[in-house]
Amino acid sequence: MSAHGQPIPMTARASGPLTGEAAVPGDKSISHRSLIFGALTVGETRITGLLEGEDVLDTAKAMRAFGAEVTRLGPGDWSVHGVGVGGFSEPEDVIDFGNSGTGVRLVMGAMATTPIAATFTGDASLRKRPMGRITDPLALFGARAHGRSKGRLPLTLIGAADPVPVTFRMTVPSAQVKSAVLLAGLNAPGQTRVIEPDPTRDHTERMLRGFGAEVTVEKTDEGNLITLTGQPELRPQKVAVPRDPSSAAFPVCAALIVEGSEITVPGVSRNATRDGLYVTLLEMGADIAFENPREEGGEPVADLRVRYSELKGVEVPPERAASMIDEFPVLSVVASFAEGSTVMRGVRELRVKESDRIDAMAVGLRACGVSVDETEDTMTVHGMGAGAVPGGARCVTHLDHRIAMSFLVLGLATRAPVSLDDGSPIATSFPVFEPLMTGLGAAISRD
Ligand code: S3P
Repeated sequence: MSAHGQPIPMTARASGPLTGEAAVPGDKSISHRSLIFGALTVGETRITGLLEGEDVLDTAKAMRAFGAEVTRLGPGDWSVHGVGVGGFSEPEDVIDFGNSGTGVRLVMGAMATTPIAATFTGDASLRKRPMGRITDPLALFGARAHGRSKGRLPLTLIGAADPVPVTFRMTVPSAQVKSAVLLAGLNAPGQTRVIEPDPTRDHTERMLRGFGAEVTVEKTDEGNLITLTGQPELRPQKVAVPRDPSSAAFPVCAALIVEGSEITVPGVSRNATRDGLYVTLLEMGADIAFENPREEGGEPVADLRVRYSELKGVEVPPERAASMIDEFPVLSVVASFAEGSTVMRGVRELRVKESDRIDAMAVGLRACGVSVDETEDTMTVHGMGAGAVPGGARCVTHLDHRIAMSFLVLGLATRAPVSLDDGSPIATSFPVFEPLMTGLGAAISRD
């Protein structure tokens, strides 16, 4: 069960055609950043379309604990009165980030160059996840961390009193690490540099620029060189959060495998650093049209029209992994219904997400009759073709929202129903998943 509730067993059954509009909620990455950047700005930042999932609500609470005034004005409509760069005050109590790796890692970066102490914890999933990847670069600024073995939560971070700027070469392709370093660099004098060999989502760079910071990105032989000029005065913004392509992936993939389906998904971000699933699905033969391309909230967006498709297996190259890192679980579901094998390379980061996602999907898919091979860094799904996946298993969620939603999508097109031990983690990122999917015609129910 999630940190916030009781376990919710769920089942998905073979469904008739999915039809209608899937208006998915706001982007999780941009929602976290809107609250954090708003809190680092003097004046009022107004946010519309904020994702009101548990992960983002935990970040809102954390920003209040550091001294910002964060108010919900209406559905998705929020106001943040920030305290300015370097203005965080010391929280009075432990900050519980629930299931949210993004929230805790970005906020650790945001406080690391302010001379205050804060103690962070999370649910059983978050307490297992590696934090050394964040606290090691933050130590270069002068911050000190005291956590459990291997740097795990609960962890106390003591911000640097006299921060120095840092040049950091990333060793794992992680936008969370990049963002934590850039956020720490905000309150360090001079220029903080991040060298990013494999590009990851660039919302932090785009939004920091939007809030008035000086951020440049140069392509070099070593990868992207991102340079931030420290101690800017951030200006309050109006942020319109676009819809989340990672949440859109679930209705899109469901429509591709349920015969006769045709759905639309309006206003989905098409940021190239988030687009890998859609590139891959098109290569597999998916019928997806990108209509009305336009810009919203500083991001390229389009309306998606998706029709049921007969798919073929493909090779997903390692250099594409970062741009679809959250979509591999649901891709492995779609790949089960394709003709031929789908090989996903360069995916070792999946092993340190909310669960070990390679293992969680491999075990559940095998229990549903699909043959899956895995190595430390690859996953191969041997597709059975449309209509040929047996299903009939109870899959384990491991406190992971994307594992839960992926298995529910699977059960919409298998011969026998697929059930889950616990659908409650879905509320962390996609609280309206169940009504949205059943509204399209999906046979998903609570047991
Ligand atoms: C995120 C980055 C990704 C992603 C997560 C959101 C972000 O994690 O899995 O859901 O908002 O920066 P990594 O940066 O660790 O790959």
